[in-house]
Amino acid sequence: MATSTPPPSILQLATDILAHAKTIHQHLESNGIPQPGFDRDSPLHFPSDAEIQGSRMALIEAAKAIYDLAVGPTNGITWSSLTSKFETVVLRAITTYNLAEAVPLHGEASFAQIAAASNLHEDFVTRIIRYATTSHIFKESRPGWVIHTAASRAILEDHLLRSFLAINADEGLSAAAKINEANDKYGHTGSRYETAFCVANGLEGEDMFGFMERPDQQWRKKRFAECMQYRAKNEESTSAVNKECDPLLNGSFDWDAIGEGLVVDIGGGLGHICASIARNHPKPRFLVQDLASVVSQGKTSIESEEESVKSRISFIESDFWSPQTVEADVYFMRLVMHDWSDEGCAKILKNIIPKMKPNSRIVIVDAILAEANTIPKLFEKLQRTLDLSMMMLVGGKERTGQDWELLMRKADPRLRIVKMSLPPGSQFGLIEVALDRRSAPFLSGKL
Ligand SMILES: C[S@@+](CC[C@H](N)C(=O)[O-])C[C@H]1O[C@@H](n2cnc3c(N)ncnc32)[C@H](O)[C@@H]1O
Repeated sequence: MATSTPPPSILQLATDILAHAKTIHQHLESNGIPQPGFDRDSPLHFPSDAEIQGSRMALIEAAKAIYDLAVGPTNGITWSSLTSKFETVVLRAITTYNLAEAVPLHGEASFAQIAAASNLHEDFVTRIIRYATTSHIFKESRPGWVIHTAASRAILEDHLLRSFLAINADEGLSAAAKINEANDKYGHTGSRYETAFCVANGLEGEDMFGFMERPDQQWRKKRFAECMQYRAKNEESTSAVNKECDPLLNGSFDWDAIGEGLVVDIGGGLGHICASIARNHPKPRFLVQDLASVVSQGKTSIESEEESVKSRISFIESDFWSPQTVEADVYFMRLVMHDWSDEGCAKILKNIIPKMKPNSRIVIVDAILAEANTIPKLFEKLQRTLDLSMMMLVGGKERTGQDWELLMRKADPRLRIVKMSLPPGSQFGLIEVALDRRSAPFLSGKL
């Protein structure tokens, strides 16, 4: 990922933008790949060809800079403070009221028809959709009539995407509005019981995951699990990188080296990550550990996998705040540690250690945060968005490489990071940890 600071001159930025746009355009044209567009049938994702990713990153960075310069410093703040909340609010309305479903994929619908289909006031629908069209979500093809764009088609066609958007617009928006209140009420404690989410939902002594375990909140839990499934399938949805950068799929860990060994996926959700590893590695066996409701949902959802995959994946209800009960070759945690404070993570790690065999590994897939000002601004913003999200939802945080080192030392001085991989262009890395039972320095090596 490029780390250079963009030149400040509008003219220079425009020149750079033209050069990068030409590189991308020519590559797509000569390879017969459709050009990016906003219309309904345009590609839903920017092409993933490795050859153009450098130009794409530079284009995004330069385009953002030229936009910021053209808007100007003060208007940059005022316009953003006016608009940013409504970007989320309209997505909330679209997903809550199924507005994408109210417009036929290949036709058009009037505001009146959409209102009737979704049982809403026509004026409300009109104003929400007209706002959305300013972000290329729906298009008003002629006055009063709406057709799909690529973005609204993506919402229509992908129910996991709808869950992703709804979580961010519902839980995300209400918690974000309470960040100051949580800070004023509790101070910045990092406790999972003292978050903005807790304030927004009136929780006392209960964290977000506990809240979603309540019988009347199961719909929320299901939606959260689907949101995680969406993220797993679309890493670029939160980090602006391509599948090739996924540390699970790019060989950062040698899954075949454990043979038919056991991988325990702690906080493994619906088992979708184990399924993705199992599809690519025929031997390892998997045990998904999660909270009761997630486990029962996972058992159903894994049924859609092929026999060779699902036969190697089982589920067990398990609480990672209690001691681990299973001896395994790999204790795997993806997007689990970033949910918790250092104290919380240390507790989870300590609970694993007594069950580790001499060659067992703890394998963590999580963000490895860039140092400030070392990556393009937009990507830094995405990383810091996730960091603040962890803070407000569960008291967690994203960590730099050094933070991960310090965390292991804090949990147990015998825990050694034997490998930390961060694929170029990704914010998600893989951290492989061994337990050194000797007092001498650990001699790092592969399994
Ligand atoms: C952010 S999600 C990550 C899911 C999955 N690993 C992935 O990468 O998509 C965190 C997971 O931790 C689970 N979890 C939360 N508290 C837990 C606990 N006390 N014990 C076990 N799992 C827990 C949640 O139910 C959720 O599935």
